[in-house]
Amino acid sequence: MAPANHSFFLSFSILCVSLLISRPVFAQTKPAFACDVSNNPGLKNFSFCDQSLDVKSRVADLVGRLTLQEKIGWLVNTAKGVSRLGIPDYQWWSEALHGVSYVGPGTKFSGLVPGATSFPQVILTAATFNESLFEIIGKVVSTEARAMYNVGLAGLTFWSPNINIFRDPRWGRGQETAGEDPLLSSKYGAAYVRGLQERDDGDKDRLKVAACCKHYTAYDVDNWKGIQRYNFNALVTQQDLDDTFQPPFKSCVLDGNVASVMCSYNQVNGKPTCGDPDLLYGVIRGQWKLNGYIVTDCDSLNEMFYTQKYTKTPEETVALAMNSGLDLNCGDFLSKFTQTAVDRGLLNETVINGAMSNNFATMMRLGFFDGDPSKQLYGNLGPTDVCTTANQELAREVAREGIVLLKNTEGSLPLSPKTIKSLAVIGPNANVTHTMLGSYEGTPCKYTTPLQGLTASTATVYQPGCADVSCGSAQVDAAKKIAAAADAVVLVMGSDQSIERESLDRVDITLPGQQQLLVTEVAKVSKGPVILVIMSGGGMDVQFAKDDPKVTSILWVGFPGEAGGAAIADVIFGYYNPSGRLPMTWYPQSYADKVNMTDMHMRPNPDTGYPGRTYRFYKGPTVFSFGDGLSYSTFNHNLVRAPKLVSVPLEEGHVCRSSMCKSIDVVDHTCKNLGFDIHVRVKNVGHMSGSHTVFLFSSPPQVHNAPQKHLLGFQKLHLEPQGEGLVRFNVDVCKHLSVVDEKGNRKVALGEHLLHVGSLKHSLNLRV
Ligand SMILES: *[C@@H]1O[C@H](CO)[C@@H](O)[C@H](O)[C@H]1NC(C)=O
Ligand SMILES: *[C@@H]1O[C@H](CO)[C@@H](O)[C@H](O)[C@H]1NC(C)=O
Ligand SMILES: *[C@@H]1O[C@H](CO)[C@@H](O)[C@H](O)[C@H]1NC(C)=O
Ligand SMILES: *[C@@H]1O[C@H](CO)[C@@H](O)[C@H](O)[C@H]1NC(C)=O
Ligand SMILES: *[C@@H]1O[C@H](CO)[C@@H](O)[C@H](O)[C@H]1NC(C)=O
Repeated sequence: MAPANHSFFLSFSILCVSLLISRPVFAQTKPAFACDVSNNPGLKNFSFCDQSLDVKSRVADLVGRLTLQEKIGWLVNTAKGVSRLGIPDYQWWSEALHGVSYVGPGTKFSGLVPGATSFPQVILTAATFNESLFEIIGKVVSTEARAMYNVGLAGLTFWSPNINIFRDPRWGRGQETAGEDPLLSSKYGAAYVRGLQERDDGDKDRLKVAACCKHYTAYDVDNWKGIQRYNFNALVTQQDLDDTFQPPFKSCVLDGNVASVMCSYNQVNGKPTCGDPDLLYGVIRGQWKLNGYIVTDCDSLNEMFYTQKYTKTPEETVALAMNSGLDLNCGDFLSKFTQTAVDRGLLNETVINGAMSNNFATMMRLGFFDGDPSKQLYGNLGPTDVCTTANQELAREVAREGIVLLKNTEGSLPLSPKTIKSLAVIGPNANVTHTMLGSYEGTPCKYTTPLQGLTASTATVYQPGCADVSCGSAQVDAAKKIAAAADAVVLVMGSDQSIERESLDRVDITLPGQQQLLVTEVAKVSKGPVILVIMSGGGMDVQFAKDDPKVTSILWVGFPGEAGGAAIADVIFGYYNPSGRLPMTWYPQSYADKVNMTDMHMRPNPDTGYPGRTYRFYKGPTVFSFGDGLSYSTFNHNLVRAPKLVSVPLEEGHVCRSSMCKSIDVVDHTCKNLGFDIHVRVKNVGHMSGSHTVFLFSSPPQVHNAPQKHLLGFQKLHLEPQGEGLVRFNVDVCKHLSVVDEKGNRKVALGEHLLHVGSLKHSLNLRV
């Protein structure tokens, strides 16, 4: 999708201010909806407006009434109304990645709703490892979205979340995702989608708003050294596709019941994803049975034709995409070339009717064809339901739950506001507003900058130290001067959208420009604790700071959202005990120097020295690892229940009864319902109450190029000092202990599985 344009944002802010001052009358305060029978009683005659009928019959009635031209008008995001049937224009494209966003023409802020709650960018939310929180955020965002729809400021169809795997630290859009682990991404995506879509009345056939899981699939190169996403061909093995790239999408459809999937710009193994019948029709509809619509990324059919030159004529692109299972086009390619594709016999109207039905069924489930929305559930939501105190407090809570403490020398954090009488606050991100939001942002309710957050607890002196995050030349002396005079120093460094964003992947993963010099020089002259705060989407090589004894603490704060500064202060002063864990590996710069970003292989290749990717496969040096994160307390683990041996029953005559097998197929019914419990007692042996995430990893037997380690589950619990809690994992042998073989088949490896819980290791034998 086209990136948020910065100049657009600026001009928008100015417009917003002037509107507030002049208090104009707003023209558009009504939502778009069809079947307005109270104003047009004739519409009662149409069955598609009859709410007592099922969605399928209503859709069939509607599609049957439309001409081909009218249908084509509903194959694109800027859909053309059919006034003779009381159907208005509709804009399909709205976004709500971490709050209602102004990216996408379907949503606007105005004097009526000047801003919406801006939660942390997703990568930080993922770091909370709090599954219920993912859903709660989705619920708040959909409430604000529905409130904005009611006053004509938003649509009902939101193209969020982004559930691609953060495969390489350089990816500019890694910030939008839930990180590198397929299980975490799957759980995040499904939970956020449920939060957006599920209605409070429990009616599963209907939708509060429609979510969209994107970008399908193996999409995680934007623009690296000039290699563009628009024609990048991702060469992906079946094994990597099935155990890394596809799981979040599968979970999004099957566990989240998402109403839409977006196909990506890139090709996968030589075929554009939006024109691949196996990936769309075969997998999304055939295997996963999507109840909803498949949409292209914006202008991706243009890219397929003009950039990739994948077909000879535009009509062939239309036919390929629609015959592959595409329903909606973000862009205007289908409105331009569908009629001629039909005229030339490349595409028939039955296929178009199928697409129409998927699009209209989604709109029916949203209530768009049920007449006046103010008379429906959520009809009473309005501007006062946006940016409520509770919603803004939740944005702060998410940020502080996500912030990750990566280094903490004894006696450094938390700072005591009583003993720290003066705090030097330094760095190009120390007093930022918009930077805190990350991409796919909206106008927030308000901002609390890090400087403002810290100043609320103690006296501060501030020096930016660099003109901007690029930090071409650091103002070292000015920064050193205030650092030397202060009781403690907080350096807020890192990146912003000028360093990592959509259409811009990084080449270097070190702190930009002279930031490192500034940190090191300031640390040298400081007399008290030196806290390095890294605000970024992707990981940074900060090995120098990890090794520098003068840098006493390191915090990663992602892009922490509108309340980021308050949350940072909550952690620094110990009002909140940090509990975030890294959702991605932090690699050294040498990794970026050596590894081609465009090499999609997850698994290492000993022949070429290719090191592999993510904690599941990469064995080389890291700066910080997946799951890292400290607390101000210490938590002990004790395994109270875990089997040593699990026997897999096999029926008479199974080949593995007579001969040695390394693994058995998951499809075998013998494998069904085979599970066991793992119980872990956790004790907070520190002095502060706090939350703690328990990870259950497994290292399977090394057959089929299995991951060295993979996450089976995670659970977070809150414990008072000296408090104890029991965490229960129910392990399903086929689901959790299986691996994907070279051909993409799920297998349960027989032999020793090493289970890891914290520093505990437990050996489990699987036998037939
Ligand atoms: C709706 O149906 C009624 C009864 O069949 C008919 O009298 C009326 O003219 C119809 N209205 C429209 C707008 O078609
Ligand atoms: C329409 O096209 C689809 C896909 O090519 C084909 O399967 C179907 O049989 C066609 N239907 C008609 C009625 O021609
Ligand atoms: C910090 O940023 C806020 C909000 O943009 C601004 O009002 C304030 O003047 C800045 N503070 C300093 C010391 O520059
Ligand atoms: C990186 O991969 C691209 C193809 O994706 C290839 O053209 C290029 O030669 C590779 N570079 C190296 C250093 O392997
Ligand atoms: C998870 O998030 C919810 C909502 O903010 C919070 O109430 C709960 O305490 C969190 N869980 C843990 C274990 O911290």
